[in-house]
Order: sequence, then C-alpha cells, then structure tokens
Amino acid sequence: MRITLIGFMGSGKTTVAKELSHQLNLPQNDLDTLIEQTAGLTIPAYFEQFGEARFRQLEQSVLTEALSLEGILSTGGGTPVQVSNQGLLKNQPGPVIFLDASDQTIASRLLADGVTSRPLFQQLGMDGLLALKQTRQPVYEKIASEIITVDGKQPADIAKEIIHSI
Ligand code: S3P
Repeated sequence: MRITLIGFMGSGKTTVAKELSHQLNLPQNDLDTLIEQTAGLTIPAYFEQFGEARFRQLEQSVLTEALSLEGILSTGGGTPVQVSNQGLLKNQPGPVIFLDASDQTIASRLLADGVTSRPLFQQLGMDGLLALKQTRQPVYEKIASEIITVDGKQPADIAKEIIHSI
C-alpha cells in the first residue's frame, strides 16, 4: 500500500503524511528528506551549489526509488511538474492525493517558514511564487487521483478525509 501526496509548497504535504502514517500505521517517507540524505546537503545548499536543473535530475532518480517504498510518500512541490515524473506517478498503483490550498493559506505558511528553507521563495518572492502556483495548478489536478481542499482544516481531519476518499 502506498499513498503519494502532491501539492504546492506550504500545502501541508509533509505534515499530513505524518498524520496519515500515524492513523494508518504505515511508514512515512518524504522526498525532500530522501534527496537531502542522498545528496548529503540541504535543499537550499544543493540549489546554491548545483542549481535547479541538477536538483530536478536528482529528484527524479530519488522519486524512482521512493516509488518502490511502502507507506506514505510526500513529494516536493515541483515533483509532478516534470513530464517524466508524471509518468512515474501515473504508472504506480497507489492513489495520488493533491492537497489543494488557497493562495492565502500558502502565503501565510510560507511567510511563517521564512525564505531560507525554500530556494524558489528566495528567487521568486511571494508574487512570483503565487504565479508559479497558478501555472502548476492544472498539472496537480491532472496527476491527482483525489483532490482534497485543505484551507482551515486540521492535519488530522485532512488525513481522515483522505482515508475516506481512497
Ligand atoms: C520545490 C518545493 C520544495 C523542494 C524544492 C523545490 C518546488 O518542496 O522540493 O525547494 O519546486 O516547488 P516543498 O513543497 O516540500 O517545500
């Protein structure tokens, strides 16, 4: 059994994955964390040293491995954007859940986290990020097997909703 979570930065993928893992008693894996472990660098440090294009190559190879793991997988916000990753996500048997958050929800969470943990926030600023979110929205919708809106909901309730939807 594997459940994959997709959605924009700040949509709560990692937090909801932890909740799902707890409620379903399944292991949890986070793609960004697996990338950091593989690279031996934080994601901001990796972007700084190697740039986004190399990050995307690494992301794809780590995704390929992660899709053989059982349990809950939270992805990075940009993971479903690459066409090759879309194929990987579509061609595996588990549900792909899109956590759909409003601009307001995303903006307040990203501001609370600060720019240092997210290189694209650093590069694009808030307006640029929200524009990116808009361009990615149809991609998330296309890849998802379920869409769950998250605004104003607690992670535990979102996890319950996901469990009921699959
Ligand atoms: C990215 C999202 C990040 C991380 C990297 C790029 C993106 O993950 O993979 O900074 O392109 O949206 P989160 O969605 O977990 O912040």
